[in-house]
Amino acid sequence: MISRGSGPHETAVACLVGLLPAVASARVLDVACGQGLATRAVLHAGAASVVGVDSSREMIDIAASRSEPTAPISYLVDDAQRLTTCADASFDGVTCQLALMDIPDLTATLSSVHRVLRPGGWFVFIIGHPCFLAPEATTEVGAGGRPARLVNSYLDERFWRSSNPHGVRRAGHYHRPLATYLNSLIHIGFRIEAVDEPRASALLAAEQPVYTEVPIFFGARVRRS
Ligand SMILES: C[S@@+](CC[C@H](N)C(=O)[O-])C[C@H]1O[C@@H](n2cnc3c(N)ncnc32)[C@H](O)[C@@H]1O
Repeated sequence: MISRGSGPHETAVACLVGLLPAVASARVLDVACGQGLATRAVLHAGAASVVGVDSSREMIDIAASRSEPTAPISYLVDDAQRLTTCADASFDGVTCQLALMDIPDLTATLSSVHRVLRPGGWFVFIIGHPCFLAPEATTEVGAGGRPARLVNSYLDERFWRSSNPHGVRRAGHYHRPLATYLNSLIHIGFRIEAVDEPRASALLAAEQPVYTEVPIFFGARVRRS
């Protein structure tokens, strides 16, 4: 879970907001909302209303406690792989920040997102960049003494857990090559509209300079055809 005010958080939220289309009057669903960082950012970007769902009751309670009581935001416990609380074609847009890597069934999740979007609706997601956050990737000294990421086993799709007790991937992730994400979206019926590999915010650059050399995240806006 990224925390309020962290370098990764700043970078992820800026990337997500930058990928949003015009959201005025949009009804938006934020999938796997955690403590609601992206949920609130989407509302502040101008959405008419936002629903945040997460499988963790604890996260939903924290998210609710951090939102203005009168804000047009509601939080519900739901599994992203099914979205049983959401009717078909009931949202103009869906967001998912830093969670697709935490969910075992990517096809079920993307199919649920597709189902709850109205035709022509958009989906904006941010994932840890699989090319540089691959299992056991490490930060090393690279060319010119600059930091670099050393990656192997990128092509192996698997669950893995960082041995770093302070690392963001200590809880475990489903590593998938970028092609798996893009092909899954295409097969389910999404059209890719925009992609981003954001530069580190000033805070992230100070915390982890390697992410001024390579992107920590990959983000995209896709549209339901
Ligand atoms: C790294 S956190 C990201 C939270 C939030 N989107 C953010 O950017 O701060 C991943 C979140 O995914 C949630 N999650 C994991 N599996 C889920 C599932 N199957 N359905 C819904 N939420 C899930 C976790 O409870 C957690 O809150």
